[in-house]
Amino acid sequence: MSDSGWHSANGKVILFGEHAVVYGVKAIAGGVADAVTVRAQCSSGNSSVSIPAWDLAFSIDGTSEDLLQRSFAHLITALDLKGASFHLDVKATVPPASGLGASAALAVASTRALAACYNIDMNDGQINAVAFASEQIAHSTPSGIDNTLATYGGLLSYCRREREDARFSSLAHAPAIPLVVGFTGRKGYTAETVARVRAARALEPVKYAQLFAEIARIVDAAEEAIAVGDFARLAVLMDENQRALKEIGVSCDEIEQVVHLAKQAGAFGAKLTGSGDGGAVIIYAADRAEAVHERLNKHGFKTMDVLLGAA
Ligand code: MEV
Repeated sequence: MSDSGWHSANGKVILFGEHAVVYGVKAIAGGVADAVTVRAQCSSGNSSVSIPAWDLAFSIDGTSEDLLQRSFAHLITALDLKGASFHLDVKATVPPASGLGASAALAVASTRALAACYNIDMNDGQINAVAFASEQIAHSTPSGIDNTLATYGGLLSYCRREREDARFSSLAHAPAIPLVVGFTGRKGYTAETVARVRAARALEPVKYAQLFAEIARIVDAAEEAIAVGDFARLAVLMDENQRALKEIGVSCDEIEQVVHLAKQAGAFGAKLTGSGDGGAVIIYAADRAEAVHERLNKHGFKTMDVLLGAA
C-alpha cells in the first residue's frame, strides 16, 4: 500500500490589510508553522478524509454540494486523480473558521501528500496554484494571501497582482514578532464576510474607498515599523487597523470583548485577524503577554502564542 508519509502546510496570521487586500491593497501576514499535516494512503472504494481535531470525517463522492468536499473534488481533478482511491489522515493545530488560514493549509498539505503518494512531481508554485483554485471554491473571491502563506510561510507582504510570481515579497530580514492569539469562540466564515463587505461597498463606494485607502496607509507605515523592529509603533497601527475593520463592518461583540480584555491586561495593540465576525484576535503584549493569557482564559477565551516570521 502506498503511503505518502506526513506533509505539512502553514496556517497564517494577517497582521495588517485583511479585506482591503481583496481590492488590491497590500497586506502583511506571517505563517504559523505546521498548522495542518496530512498523510495520504491508497485505499479502495470512495476516497475519504478524517480530521479528528475538527470532529470531521467524510468521503468524497464528487456529488456533494458541501464546500469542503467540492474543494477536495477539485484537488482530485487538478492532480488528475479521478478514479484513484485514497484516504487522508489530517492533524490540525489550528481550529477551522478561526481566521488562521485552516482551509488553505488543508488544501496545501493535502496536495503535497497526494502528490507524494502518487509520485506527481510538483513545485511550490504549482501547489500554490492548485490550493488557490481550491480556495476559490471555498471562498469564491479569495485574494490568494491564505494559500500563499500556507505554501511558503515566513513573513510576507502580499498584493493581488496579475502575475502570480509578482504577488508577494518576503520580509525575512525583519525581526520575528511575538503575538498572543485570542480565540473568540465564534466561527467566522470568510465567504460570508467577504460577500457582506462586497455588498456594503457597492452601496457606499466612497466610504469604502476611504477606508481601504486608510488601511493602505496603515500597511505602508507597518512595513516601515517592521523593518526596524519598532513593535510599539506596530501596536498603535494594529489599533488603527482594528478601528477601520470595525467601520468596514467585520468586527463583532466577541472580538470587541477580547480586544477590551487584552487592553485591560496591559496589551499595547490588538485587532481581529482574517475575515472577522468571529475567529481570532491578535494581540501585541510584549512582557505583559502572561497577564493577557490569564485575563482572557479567566473569561473563557482560549489563547495561544505565535512568533510571526519565525516559521
Ligand atoms: C481571509 O483570511 C482574508 C480576507 O482578506 C479574504 C482574502 O484575502 O481572501 C478577508
